[in-house]
Amino acid sequence: YGQYDFIVVSNRLPVDRVTDDGEDTSWRRSPGGLVTALAPVMAKTDGAWIGWPGSADEVLDPFDHDDMRLVPIPLSQDDVELYYEGFSNATLWPLYHDVIAPPEFHRAWWECYKQVNQRFADATAKVAATGAVVWVQDYQLQLVPKLLREQRPDLKIGFFNHIPFPPLEIFAQLPWRRQVIEGLLGADLVGFQRPSDSSNFLRCVRRFSGHAIKSQHVNIKTETGTRICRAGAFPISIDVDQINELANRPDVIERARQIREELGNPKTVLLGVDRLDYTKGIGHRIKAYGELLEDERVTVEDAALIQVASPSRERVESYRLLREEIEASVGRINGTFDTLSNTAIRYLHHSYPKEEMVALYLAADVMLVTALRDGMNLVAKEYVASRTGVNGALVLSEFAGAADHLKQAILVNPHDIDGLKDAIMRAIHISPGEATRRMRTMRRQILQNDVEQWSQSFLRALQVDPAEELGEQ
Ligand code: G6P
Repeated sequence: YGQYDFIVVSNRLPVDRVTDDGEDTSWRRSPGGLVTALAPVMAKTDGAWIGWPGSADEVLDPFDHDDMRLVPIPLSQDDVELYYEGFSNATLWPLYHDVIAPPEFHRAWWECYKQVNQRFADATAKVAATGAVVWVQDYQLQLVPKLLREQRPDLKIGFFNHIPFPPLEIFAQLPWRRQVIEGLLGADLVGFQRPSDSSNFLRCVRRFSGHAIKSQHVNIKTETGTRICRAGAFPISIDVDQINELANRPDVIERARQIREELGNPKTVLLGVDRLDYTKGIGHRIKAYGELLEDERVTVEDAALIQVASPSRERVESYRLLREEIEASVGRINGTFDTLSNTAIRYLHHSYPKEEMVALYLAADVMLVTALRDGMNLVAKEYVASRTGVNGALVLSEFAGAADHLKQAILVNPHDIDGLKDAIMRAIHISPGEATRRMRTMRRQILQNDVEQWSQSFLRALQVDPAEELGEQ
């Protein structure tokens, strides 16, 4: 067997390629919280991370980075189209997000998803030491737990789904629903963001597999006896220290001041930050804001909305259509309400480094998170963590997992445009006392639950011997 005691498996490796002027390439750690939480665990144990380097037909040998062993899994152009853009992002993604966009079911995509999952499982089986802990991440790799267990029954296998798990009535559409459930049940522990995701999963297990369920445990009969797979909620969070450090840095604070100045120091700065994805409710937010301008409840002199929409999955059809829609409506609103000196909506189709993001959070009086469905939404948590002045208002969709933890936000149903408009107005006119009261409670919640606690509580739960936990059953 291989040599690594702790292995993370995810679609993407936790590094981005950087090319300097001389065209030399090197790797930089990705900005996400997941790698921040897991890198220390990797450094302490003999850790390896298995994933795709991010572009088609890139074949690389394993290499070390940041005290981690990185094991690249190549994807061909076809794999990218069928497994990544197809089955992962045009079948599973919309299916798991309440069919906001219609999921497409194509047998060729499924075949490729199976093959790629098999390759990830094979690579993991090769490098894992006897009895190693393997943590598989997210919807792109749902078959890996089973495929891995078939080869390596000695491993402890955890799986975490970062996106919602849909209700049975929606999951039932998937032609390969039984295979996906069996894939996940290969794990010892399957983690979800919200308790509702976990109970959706257990209902699907009951319906589409023959296994018996006792509370949160699935009893799986094997040739040698009974194996237990547990399910539960482990809500993810952010790297609080990193955000806090940036929010206190003089250059970041100065940049926040500059941003407001560049906008002409309006009374209210509103901010939206999302990947350009149809689950994020960007169109609903822009529609509501456009109507507020039309009703003259806000004016371009008094308020500025910044919408950062970072490019995402640009070759997938529904994402292309979304971009056209959003850009047309921003154009229409700006064309109607802009003056020579003021712009209604600053639409930025870019991604920015964390420093600039935190400066934007510091500059924004009102943060708008209006997702139609979202596993968690870390932007909401980052905004709260950035507000070192204990002020600012968060408008938050009840359809984001973050709403479970940020109950003092101004909660909205983004489908209710009048309700959304009223919520935005409440946020704009909130009294400083009320803003501080709400923000203080939310900050306490976020500061106490950072991403390191998330990974530790999952890994601790994975180590618990289910027989011990259950007693004699
Ligand atoms: C979501 C998913 C991740 C994914 C990320 C970016 O957060 O849960 O698994 O990596 O979006 O999407 P991309 O398709 O660019 O990896």
